[in-house]
Amino acid sequence: MNYEDFFGDALSGLHREGRYRVFTDLERRNGRFPHATHHSPGGQRPVTVWCSNDYLGMGQNPVVLDAMHEALDRCGAGAGGTRNISGTNHYHVLLEQELADLHRKEAALLFTSGYVSNWAALGTLAGKLPGCVVLSDAENHASMIEGIKASRAERHIFRHNDPEDLDRKLRMIDPSRPKLVAFESVYSMDGDIAPIAEICDVAEAHGALTYLDEVHAVGLYGPRGGGISEREGLAHRLDVIEGTLGKAFAVHGGYITGSAKLCDFVRSFASGFIFTTSLPPAVAAGAAASIKHLKASGTERARHQERVAQVRARLDAAGIPYLPNDSHIVPVMVGDPVLCKAISDTLLDEFGIYVQPINYPTVPRGTERLRITPSPLHSDADIDHLVGALSAIWTRMGVEQAAAE
Ligand SMILES: Cc1ncc(COP(=O)(O)O)c(C=O)c1O
Repeated sequence: MNYEDFFGDALSGLHREGRYRVFTDLERRNGRFPHATHHSPGGQRPVTVWCSNDYLGMGQNPVVLDAMHEALDRCGAGAGGTRNISGTNHYHVLLEQELADLHRKEAALLFTSGYVSNWAALGTLAGKLPGCVVLSDAENHASMIEGIKASRAERHIFRHNDPEDLDRKLRMIDPSRPKLVAFESVYSMDGDIAPIAEICDVAEAHGALTYLDEVHAVGLYGPRGGGISEREGLAHRLDVIEGTLGKAFAVHGGYITGSAKLCDFVRSFASGFIFTTSLPPAVAAGAAASIKHLKASGTERARHQERVAQVRARLDAAGIPYLPNDSHIVPVMVGDPVLCKAISDTLLDEFGIYVQPINYPTVPRGTERLRITPSPLHSDADIDHLVGALSAIWTRMGVEQAAAE
């Protein structure tokens, strides 16, 4: 086989479909978020970032940076091992305590990313519970899907955010078999929110474990940033709450929280937890500082919601269509991969605005979009600039405009 030809042909296919991914070479500038430097082919240029998952700007918060500097100076760079073999640093232990407290659970377990936490925890739980059947929301994240596949457990996909369909599917399963219902709170691409209470009601009626991914909600919702489950007083009804330390908490890593026995079980049997070097101590220290700060301060969350509302109001006034939802995610719908990339390129090249185009397979074909994520640090001037640029492009490129009110 000519391997190089094979690789080249596959990549040409992506180019032809207009969904070849081009990374934007950014240099984040401490203290200047959402402004950054773009290392473009034509040289360095200033850009405003409108698609970051550093939702609250905590990646540059002095509280987080000070904690990381201190831990780096105390402990050095890496953790020096897997958790079992010399790599459990005191900062990991403190961070797990912070996370268990955040979700009011008995225990927490750290992983090297949110992706790995889903893959390892779901793979282990569903794989080891004898005869387990997994019920998975149709729009679950790739990391959950891969974990469920890796478990080799029988799986059924229930209609997105549909407790009745979940109930129908559960009724067809032998009541004596262990069952696991896996879903998310805020879905990252459409920004819609799961009916958590109703899903828990159905799961409970069928004796199923519940596993909730709160990756796009932790830090952002609830009086202490415990996510949608905290905001709705439902955390106690979830057997597992999973989250990331890389988005609103703005450092790196992932975790699950749950009962002491469940976490100990995953700790003891999950290959993706056991056989990998643990997070650098400075990363754990920064994440713990970020969580602690957001537990006590609602200022960032309030400002975040206000900025999101402001962006939506301005888009409405300009007739730029976006998918309405009850979260902080503003998906501006384009519906074509080539046009979506062209708009994103024009925003970057002409206006110094960076919004990555989102294409298949991240979203279904025909729903390509610009996923805009306002932060508390976007100013009125930043919003004016974004909406002005989008309006100019919409008119110039003849993109369908919603009727402006
Ligand atoms: C719903 C969901 N779960 C898990 C992850 C993975 O988290 P991390 O980026 O920490 O690996 C993502 C990442 O985008 C996500 O959107």
